[in-house]
Amino acid sequence: MFSKETYIRRRARLQELVGDGVIILMGNNESPCNYPNNTYYPFRQDSSFLYYFGQNRDGLVGVIDVDNNRETLIGDDIDIEDIVWYGSVDSVADMAAQVGVANSAPMSQLKVIVDKARAKGRTIHYLPPYRHDTMIQLMDLLGIHPSQQRAQCSHKLRMAVIEMRSVKEDQEIEEMERAAAIGYQMHTTAMRLIKPGVTEKYIGGQINGIAHSYGAHESFGTIFSQHGEIMHGAPSLAKLEAGRLVLCDCGAETVNNYCSDNTRTMPVNGKYTQRQREIYDIVVECHDYALELSKPGVKYMDVHMGVCRLMTERLKALGLMRGDVDEAVAAGAHAMFLPHGLGHMMGMDVHDMEGLDQIYVGFDEETHPNLEQFGTNCLRMGRRLQKGFVVTDEPGIYFIPALIDDWRRSGHCAEWLNFDLLETYKDFGGIRIEDDILITDDGCRFLGKDRIPYHAKDVEDFMAGCK
Ligand code: GLY
Ligand code: MN
Ligand code: MN
Repeated sequence: MFSKETYIRRRARLQELVGDGVIILMGNNESPCNYPNNTYYPFRQDSSFLYYFGQNRDGLVGVIDVDNNRETLIGDDIDIEDIVWYGSVDSVADMAAQVGVANSAPMSQLKVIVDKARAKGRTIHYLPPYRHDTMIQLMDLLGIHPSQQRAQCSHKLRMAVIEMRSVKEDQEIEEMERAAAIGYQMHTTAMRLIKPGVTEKYIGGQINGIAHSYGAHESFGTIFSQHGEIMHGAPSLAKLEAGRLVLCDCGAETVNNYCSDNTRTMPVNGKYTQRQREIYDIVVECHDYALELSKPGVKYMDVHMGVCRLMTERLKALGLMRGDVDEAVAAGAHAMFLPHGLGHMMGMDVHDMEGLDQIYVGFDEETHPNLEQFGTNCLRMGRRLQKGFVVTDEPGIYFIPALIDDWRRSGHCAEWLNFDLLETYKDFGGIRIEDDILITDDGCRFLGKDRIPYHAKDVEDFMAGCK
């Protein structure tokens, strides 16, 4: 948790931005896995609740009555049974005081507060919910059916939260640096463990354990797979095979809930083949190019498009693409190889604020997502970069057999693709390289003091040093 003053300051700013009405920020509840007392763990608090109320406990709701400048932390104190099974915790009043909130009340008071405000015709501001139990709570409170809650949420509140959470404070950057340091340990441990015969699940489990051993956990389900062409391929029981590539996309979420998200793609036997190296070096060049372009005032959409053009140029040189580069990119032909966006915001959520709706987080009046074009429609961040934004830079080149067959059959973008050559790459897999970048005064920098090796020679040297 940050200092009490942090939360006081943030809530005051939120009040200014929202202007009037009553803000309710729903904390998360425990989520049962296979029976009520066996919950998914670790408990994950809602990130916006954490941002303004700091408390990492289930069953809390933050209320900010903007018209009366009255803040209340709502929740039930635990009873003797809870103490017997789980030990004592702070009272809700103590938790409120820790984050500078003057009032606390039991959960039964939430509806009383909301009903009173609604009776006076005051606006109740809530964020779009994403958990079903929260939707039921909101339905009981506001009488809005879950199917309508997203549409009827407070746009003003949503935009205020996005404005504040998008620009990271120094102390948030420090937390992300901590997450990056754990991410470094996770990735370099994977590099040490990779060798033919070891299962993907074994390495995936070991690197998750690294995060846990630092009091952190994975910032999302670890991706560790020889099928790098599957964007979010979970580790399987398959054994690593010499000659193949293995893609590792993982990160840590610190005890204070800030994330890292990095990807590396390694040769199982420690040395890239000539064919792997040709593709790998293109991804490295795209990764570095994005760093060159990213600075305040530049649209991330333009960085993405710049990378797509460079990639297309290089794939043309290898004979995999052909024709005019600009036309190919405009038609979306590059999405055969890169079917996702260059990156996303990162913070407390690894895809930061995605629950608040990507169109508002990553775009604005000036930059619009292209929702029609395959590949480009997956770009989660397109708007102008600002100092203090943290975004990922994660280009990749994938050879997806089903996509090759699909486009070949339909003739989609045939003008720019060499399908005969693509056929010979169907056993290639996929490559992604990902780092997290902070936008600075006049450019950007990587998060993380130690660089996880990514230039081909550095990866090979590191892996050789582990033998
Ligand atoms: N780990 C998923 C992503 O990179 O967006
Ligand atoms: Mn990732
Ligand atoms: Mn990512």
